[in-house]
Amino acid sequence: QGRRAAAGCPAGNSAKLVAPLGCLVSRQKHTLPDLPYDYAALEPHINAEIMQLHHSKHHATYVNNLNVTEEKYQEALAKGDVTTQVSLQPALKFNGGGHINHSIFWTNLSPNGGGEPKGELMEAIKRDFGSFAKFKEKLTAVSVGVQGSGWGWLGYNKEQGRLQIAACANQDPLQGTTGLIPLLGIDVWEHAYYLQYKNVRPDYLKAIWNVINWENVSSRYATCKK
Ligand SMILES: [Fe+2]
Repeated sequence: QGRRAAAGCPAGNSAKLVAPLGCLVSRQKHTLPDLPYDYAALEPHINAEIMQLHHSKHHATYVNNLNVTEEKYQEALAKGDVTTQVSLQPALKFNGGGHINHSIFWTNLSPNGGGEPKGELMEAIKRDFGSFAKFKEKLTAVSVGVQGSGWGWLGYNKEQGRLQIAACANQDPLQGTTGLIPLLGIDVWEHAYYLQYKNVRPDYLKAIWNVINWENVSSRYATCKK
């Protein structure tokens, strides 16, 4: 997600033969991805003020803190300092998850979204949830029901070859914490809706279906089935 592998950082035994700092220096920082639409493009369903703050402040902070955490982690790794490595793991999960989740979320939305998916994804939704309406109802209920901050997800269970709905707390990334491959994420942190919908999370959930980019969700599904 917005990251290239560290160039010139060899794997395996040869890694021990080169100075660890060489890898540290060549590691590329994560960057905030551009939105594929304007901040006001999802209005009236999600207003420009929310989108601007959400992307340029909240997501940007996850990216910055992920870079800081990885730097500290690399230092601890180079020193063989396992205690520090362990103590950095919650920050890695939170900020790494925040970056992964939001990078997916922006592409899951579109000003030309809404409606229903087509083709293979729609067939799979009908097979695994009974109907599109039942699927929508279930993902809405799971997302509304997240206690505090978190995400509702449609994911793909590759082992069982079926779609699954899941809730994640905080910024726990779906695949890293459940193994499900993320297809569609709904951010239910208050920062995603409070400025427009106040405390009424169900109204935000009702509105977001109007801007779901089913082409993006379908192409994620096609990719993970390969
Ligand atoms: Fe968010």
